[in-house]
Amino acid sequence: MKTVPVICVDGPSGVGKGTLSLQLADSLGWHLLDSGALYRVLGLACSQSAVPLDDAPAVATVARSLDVRFQSGGDGVRVWLGDSDVTTVIRTEAGGRGASEVAVHVEAREALLLRQRELARLPGLIADGRDMGTVVFPDAPLKIFLTASAEARAERRLLQLQGMGESVSLARLLADIEERDARDRNRAASPLVAAEDAIVVDSTTLTADAVMHLVRDLAVSRGIVEE
Ligand code: DC
Repeated sequence: MKTVPVICVDGPSGVGKGTLSLQLADSLGWHLLDSGALYRVLGLACSQSAVPLDDAPAVATVARSLDVRFQSGGDGVRVWLGDSDVTTVIRTEAGGRGASEVAVHVEAREALLLRQRELARLPGLIADGRDMGTVVFPDAPLKIFLTASAEARAERRLLQLQGMGESVSLARLLADIEERDARDRNRAASPLVAAEDAIVVDSTTLTADAVMHLVRDLAVSRGIVEE
């Protein structure tokens, strides 16, 4: 049986993992796992059923029966929770905060592990998240850990939110990013940390295109994809 090649793209919030992963998946014709979306949907599902986000066993129960679907189409990947298209609502700042809160629970993370691994299908998978290289796909042949200063990430996020018609201040965004980073890095379950064999790429002063070419070249040089 042919092993499925996986390229992991991990890193903190707002670092450009989503853009890089989407571009890589498009250009290689590979599948895409947006694991953050899974945690965002879990947070939303908990809120909708009035499950407190800090109630670990209850959150894990919701995770086990989470009726989430990813649908690839012309305008990117659409995310469904049951019969509702939640693609836009999970992208709000509140959606990100909720995801970060439910993501601290080990049992809930375990419930989502198999679903993530099942998405590894030929010709290959781009796995975007926090623990792709450390926990979900430890044997992946290429692991990228993307970083950028908190200020650069807050500025990029501001532009994104303005594009979606949300109005927030840069200072508030920076505080949110720092708070979420601290929670993601300091939690006991799968904390945000670069895998030992990950290549750390600082994107603070790089364009999205430059990052994409750098990672593609690495994949070619490792024989994972053809030139
Ligand atoms: O990548 P994102 O901003 O959509 O992720 C939202 C939250 O989900 C983030 O604060 C941490 C959590 N997350 C995680 O714990 N593990 C992952 N593999 C992906 C996301």
